[in-house]
Amino acid sequence: MKNWKLDRDADGIAWATLDKAESSTNVLSAEVMAELAQLLDICDREPPKALIFRSGKEAGFIAGADIEEFTTLDSPAKGRALVQRGWDLYNRLAAVPYVTLALVRGHCMGGGTELALACTYRVAVDEPGTKFALPEVMLGIVPGWGGMLRLPQLVGPAAALDIMLTGKGIDAKRAKRMGLADECVPPRVMENAARMVALSGRPRHQLPLMQRLMNSAPLSGIVASQARKQVAKRARQEHYPAPYAIIDMWQNYGGNALAVPANSPTSLDAIIGSATTRNLVRVFFLQERLKSFGKEAAGFAPKRVHVIGAGVMGGDIAAWCAQRGMTVTLQDQKIERIAPAIKRAAEAYRRKFRYDRDADKQMRFVLDRLIPDPAGEGVRQADVIIEAIFENLDAKQALFRDVEARAKPDALLASNTSSLRLGDIAQALKNPARLVGIHFFNPVAKMPLVEVVQGATTDDATAKKAAAFVRKIDKLPLPVKDAPGFLVNAVLAPYMLEAMRCVEEGLSPETVDEAALAFGMPMGPIELADTVGLDVAMAAGKSLAAGVTEAPKKLADLVAAGNLGRKTGKGFYAYEKGKAVKAPAGSVPAKLAERLVGPLLAATQKCVAGGIVADADLADGGVIFGTGFAPFTGGPMNYIKSTGA
Ligand code: NAI
Repeated sequence: MKNWKLDRDADGIAWATLDKAESSTNVLSAEVMAELAQLLDICDREPPKALIFRSGKEAGFIAGADIEEFTTLDSPAKGRALVQRGWDLYNRLAAVPYVTLALVRGHCMGGGTELALACTYRVAVDEPGTKFALPEVMLGIVPGWGGMLRLPQLVGPAAALDIMLTGKGIDAKRAKRMGLADECVPPRVMENAARMVALSGRPRHQLPLMQRLMNSAPLSGIVASQARKQVAKRARQEHYPAPYAIIDMWQNYGGNALAVPANSPTSLDAIIGSATTRNLVRVFFLQERLKSFGKEAAGFAPKRVHVIGAGVMGGDIAAWCAQRGMTVTLQDQKIERIAPAIKRAAEAYRRKFRYDRDADKQMRFVLDRLIPDPAGEGVRQADVIIEAIFENLDAKQALFRDVEARAKPDALLASNTSSLRLGDIAQALKNPARLVGIHFFNPVAKMPLVEVVQGATTDDATAKKAAAFVRKIDKLPLPVKDAPGFLVNAVLAPYMLEAMRCVEEGLSPETVDEAALAFGMPMGPIELADTVGLDVAMAAGKSLAAGVTEAPKKLADLVAAGNLGRKTGKGFYAYEKGKAVKAPAGSVPAKLAERLVGPLLAATQKCVAGGIVADADLADGGVIFGTGFAPFTGGPMNYIKSTGA
């Protein structure tokens, strides 16, 4: 076998080690699955006392199916065959007469989790990287290799559906608590622990009676209807059929995707043939491409970050970097300005660690790395210096003059500016090639994209280092050129402007937002403007339109009255407990969505034509991850291509 190694030890245990050839990660390609069948043949001939699966890779157990293979599924029949292969093989594994165990260290995704579920036992290694997940839904497909059958039986249907419908990862401790893992052990004892569990003869994990009852009718109906309601809040069936199919397959077909009749809207044929699935696989590869920009400056290993300006952006950027393992110094003019940022960070960390038993300890570790630094001492040691002071050219230039004189010669100097030209700020530097834009979006913790802005003077190596840094803090870097609004704001501004024009013309904000939601946007443009802050939206609009367009009157009036949106409790909507109070949307005029999205599509085309991003695919990736633009469309450029819009 090319990818698996099978060793037997003195206890009669067979150790199956997966180390996929010519690949840094273990993916379950057709070849790997065929070899797994061979491995089971060998064990049939000479049954071991126990068969333990483990990974031969540095990082990770199994990353899931080979997504490259999905792009070759050009007919439902081929898709069906791929599902059948895994379903049959894992059923065979689940039925072998000897004990089986998955020793899971690092990521365990999709088909990897389904393999583990088909085993008698699972031992999870307690490390930050260990995560069980069934993320198929994010690709528009379903966990068809037994996940929908076995996960509900192991952890109960409500928890299982939550995992399958969100694609979220479960760490080792939680896996143990919920019964997904039989043991959670530290790395140094993992092999011994696996051996002991495998030979223990202990009964398999059993669900309590009530949970078992919920796995079948009539109680399964209640669970399914709850789950459908939850899903409906996030995704419409016409845009995203897969989550609805998962619920139906679990409730009505025993988790067997192959059993759903082909003419049903929740069948494999419908899903595999849908544009959504094709486009979500496309989005996956766009994401991989964005990630790859982080690999171009391999030697750059930043550890210390200095952030200047502890406002909305700087405070949150600093908090995020500390959470991702950096040591961060945070500077502002006065300590009183830094304190609120630290308080906000502490609240965010508390939320993040709320389920962990050692939450306090974890929080302390992270907070220890976030250091208030009113005097700006951190500049001298920092590997990356990010400026996020208010939007004023003179102030930024003065700041960078001082920073350049004190920073390490190889430190990365970055500005978070939204609307100033990087080239203008860089003029203040002795060496303008050092300045790069690292443009985060608000809210920092939620937005996956960061634009890496290469000004006319920024040298290539600096831009590459900036992208590497962005990747290090787990964001997606998008290289863009220095032009007004870069990519994301340049496409958002005309879209929000059009929405506000609709409101000027008498449509209610609710109606306008509903049109965008029905198109597939995660949030309507009016609520988005309120969320960004109407003052920020107005300033951005001004600098982008450069005097060509008047600000919409309603917007100007709201800003003048100090009603700046969500943050002041009133904007286009009123806010209660941070939530917009909305009247019913009423009927949405025909073509309203097209009218709203049209300017966004046109602006994206313009950015591609103007070389702001290198190509149409990157524009799609940037707009999806930077604005949430309907992922099922595959991005604005793909949408134009496929619909002729
Ligand atoms: P903010 O007004 O909330 O915060 C600015 C902070 O900088 C204030 O706390 C101020 O005391 C401090 N500051 C001003 N001059 C300083 C100096 N010389 N030294 C140290 N601290 C100084 O501003 P916000 O919204 O955080 O924006 C900061 C930058 O980020 C701007 O360049 C803006 O264009 C950009 N940006 C803003 C976004 C937003 O949604 N608010 C999104 C992306 C970028």
